[in-house]
Amino acid sequence: MPVAQDRPVAPPAGARTVLVGVTGGIAVYKAVELVRSLVKEGFQPLVIETEAARRFVMPLTFAAVSQAPVLDDETTWQSSGGWFQHIEAARRAAVMVVAPATANTIAKLAHGIADNLLTATYLAYRGPVIVAPSMNWAMYEHPATTENLRVLAERGVTILAATSGELACGEEGQGRMVSPQTILLAVRRAFAAQASGPLAGRRVVVTAGGTRESVDAVRFLGNRSSGKMGRAVADEAYLHGADVVLVTAAPAEESPYATHAVESTAEMAAVVARECAAADVLVMAAAVADFTPAATVDGKIERNNKPSLSIELVATSDILAASARPGLLRVGFAAEAGPRVDRARAKRKAKGVEILVFNDILAEGVGIGSDENEITIITGRGETHVPRTSKTRCAAAIVTEIEATLVGA
Ligand SMILES: Cc1cc2nc3c(=O)[nH]c(=O)nc-3n(C[C@H](O)[C@H](O)[C@H](O)COP(=O)(O)O)c2cc1C
Repeated sequence: MPVAQDRPVAPPAGARTVLVGVTGGIAVYKAVELVRSLVKEGFQPLVIETEAARRFVMPLTFAAVSQAPVLDDETTWQSSGGWFQHIEAARRAAVMVVAPATANTIAKLAHGIADNLLTATYLAYRGPVIVAPSMNWAMYEHPATTENLRVLAERGVTILAATSGELACGEEGQGRMVSPQTILLAVRRAFAAQASGPLAGRRVVVTAGGTRESVDAVRFLGNRSSGKMGRAVADEAYLHGADVVLVTAAPAEESPYATHAVESTAEMAAVVARECAAADVLVMAAAVADFTPAATVDGKIERNNKPSLSIELVATSDILAASARPGLLRVGFAAEAGPRVDRARAKRKAKGVEILVFNDILAEGVGIGSDENEITIITGRGETHVPRTSKTRCAAAIVTEIEATLVGA
């Protein structure tokens, strides 16, 4: 293609250019935050707005936050010097995101209609595409839309399913665009998956949070686990290209991967057993109850001047032990009261797990409920101590060990 001197737009070509297609949905305002987050993460967003999107947010806003000119149908027709914006934009991008994606644009992408700059660029582009739908629930549920999304998913497009809740039109239902943070995670994964490490395409089941064992209809026995460590491991495995399933007893947060919310140890055990049937890795980061009430009282236990109350507890099932099978790499956690790495080593042997992550729950400012942790990762190859740091960094160290074990296996 001839190189014109007066190319009016587009940032310098680079491996970290993210094409952000913005379409005319009410969630356009969230795309502004997405573009800002991309810049903060060191990506170079190249925004293409549809005509309808321009009616919601002017290109000036996206140009300011992306620190680059914005492309749209007007700039397409203005361009000169023998260069084609849709081809050039497609060439420059390493990852393409459409957020928000209207029902209209989704239909065009699915059917190869290229009647504007964004849809033409999509056809000309070869690389990972992420689509974040956003629309009224009835539009989202319509067979035309579900079929179009299915077609795109089948072609390898990552669809970040809309979430449920109150919609801008005032109705309730599924149709809200996922958060910019979730889209950012998917973008980071697309870049990482291009690097393609040992976890890419592997199924990884991660548990998180503290289970709750019902005493009666309103009370439960629980623990202080926040679910942050498990969530961090799930995010990290996702970033490494794994097919992640999070089974969480903590309040389920939005994520770009499958999440099952559970409450009790028995529920977690059932979901883990089902999900592990086809899994390559199980990471048991959840703080699972060791004991559960022998029976749950219907209704509410009344005080009635009782001087005391005894609740009989019985041992729960050992999820980690029950999941053992050839071909499943298992990662256990040992939260010990004190610097008892020796107990963790013994636990690794007793449970027969490949990797055991030890942490001292008495160490100040780390562990259960905190944003930080200090861990020792015990494997068959040796031990790695991770001094006090964020749970994200601890998760990265754990995933590194998982990958090394998979490669060594
Ligand atoms: C106020 C308003 C809000 C809209 N919100 C949405 C929306 O959230 N999702 C959607 O699919 N369409 C929405 N539409 C309809 C689209 O703007 C319309 O289908 C348009 O043709 C989409 O063009 P595009 O896909 O090229 O951006 C909305 C329209 C208006 C007037």
